[in-house]
Formats: sequence, C-alpha cells, structure tokens
Amino acid sequence: MDRKYLVTALGYAILGMVLGIYMASTKNHIQHVTHAHILLIGFVVSFVYSVCYKLWINENHSKLASIQYWLHQIGTLIIIIGLYLIYGNHAAGNIIGPILGIGSLSVLVGMVLMKVLVIKSK
Ligand code: HEM
Ligand code: HEM
Repeated sequence: MDRKYLVTALGYAILGMVLGIYMASTKNHIQHVTHAHILLIGFVVSFVYSVCYKLWINENHSKLASIQYWLHQIGTLIIIIGLYLIYGNHAAGNIIGPILGIGSLSVLVGMVLMKVLVIKSK
C-alpha cells in the first residue's frame, strides 16, 4: 500500500504542477484553489499516507487498508473535479456543492480510518 500511495501521490504532483505552470504562463489564476487541493490533498496527504504505511502500519494488505485507500482516492477525485467545475464556472455551485460535501466526507473518513490503522498497529 505504501508504494501504491507513493505512485498516486507523484501522479497528483505532476498534474498539480502542470496546472500551476499553465496558470503562471497564462497569468490566469482562477483555478488556484483547484491547483492547491490537487497538490495538498492529492500529493501531500497521499505522500504522508505512504509514509504512514511504510513506517507504522502492519496490515498493509487488509480490507480496512483497501477501504482507506479508495475512500481517499474517490474523495480526492470528487473534490478536484468539483473545484475545477466551480472555479471554471462550468457548473452551478448549488449543484456541485453537495457533491463536494460527499467528496470531503470521503476524504475525512479516510483520515479517520488512517488513525484507526495506526492505533491498531501499535
Ligand atoms: C511547477 C510548480 C508550481 C507552479 C508553477 C505553481 C504555480 C502557482 C500559481 C501561479 C499559483 C497562484 C498564485 C495566486 O494567484 O495567489 C499557485 C498557488 C498555490 N500553489 Fe502552486 N505552483 C507549483 C507548485 C506547487 C506545489 C508543489 C504546492 C504544494 C505542495 C503548491 C501549492 C500552492 C498553494 C497552496 C497555492 C494557493 C496559495 C493561495 O493563493 O492561497 N504549488 N501556485
Ligand atoms: C476534506 C478536505 C478539504 C476541504 C473540503 C477543503 C476546503 C477548502 C475551502 C472551502 C477552501 C477555501 C477556498 C476559497 O478560498 O475559495 C480551502 C482553502 C485552502 N485549503 Fe483546503 N480543504 C480540504 C483539505 C485541505 C488540506 C488537506 C490542505 C493542506 C494539506 C488544505 C489546504 C488549503 C489551503 C492552503 C487553502 C488556501 C488555498 C487558496 O486560497 O488558494 N485543504 N480549502
């Protein structure tokens, strides 16, 4: 699981930097919140999870670890796509808002499960 998280983290780093370079070169920073969350939830938090699995978690291949991974991935994708649509004015906030809420809860439950996994691996 640590390697799986590392590979996804680096993928989000590339995506976020591409968007950052695009924003800088076009001088259009409208998507800076999307850029920030691709890099912070997608890259930084995934990288932290990769380190947690590598250093502190014994049950790397358990069902709980798999659920934790997919909750973070699905939540991250929902948040990133939702933010892109809202900040790009491609969709109304009142439609995307509740979907973003679901994505946020998914990322939050992923974090709670990570804490459970760390405590269980004592
Ligand atoms: C190729 C590398 C990068 C480029 C070209 C880039 C470019 C940018 C640009 C143009 C902005 C908008 C600034 C503004 O309008 O305020 C921005 C904001 C931001 N970037 Fe990056 N960025 C890069 C890498 C990163 C990385 C690696 C991270 C974090 C791990 C990061 C985190 C942020 C955050 C949090 C903001 C929002 C700051 C704010 O406006 O409050 N960026 N970036
Ligand atoms: C469930 C996950 C998260 C949700 C729902 C969330 C939500 C938000 C919201 C609503 C904003 C304000 C955007 C605006 O100015 O219009 C924001 C900004 C910000 N968040 Fe998050 N966030 C989440 C996770 C994180 C994480 C994990 C980090 C850092 C590791 C982070 C760092 C930031 C930063 C640096 C800003 C300012 C960015 C800017 O102004 O461009 N967020 N977030």
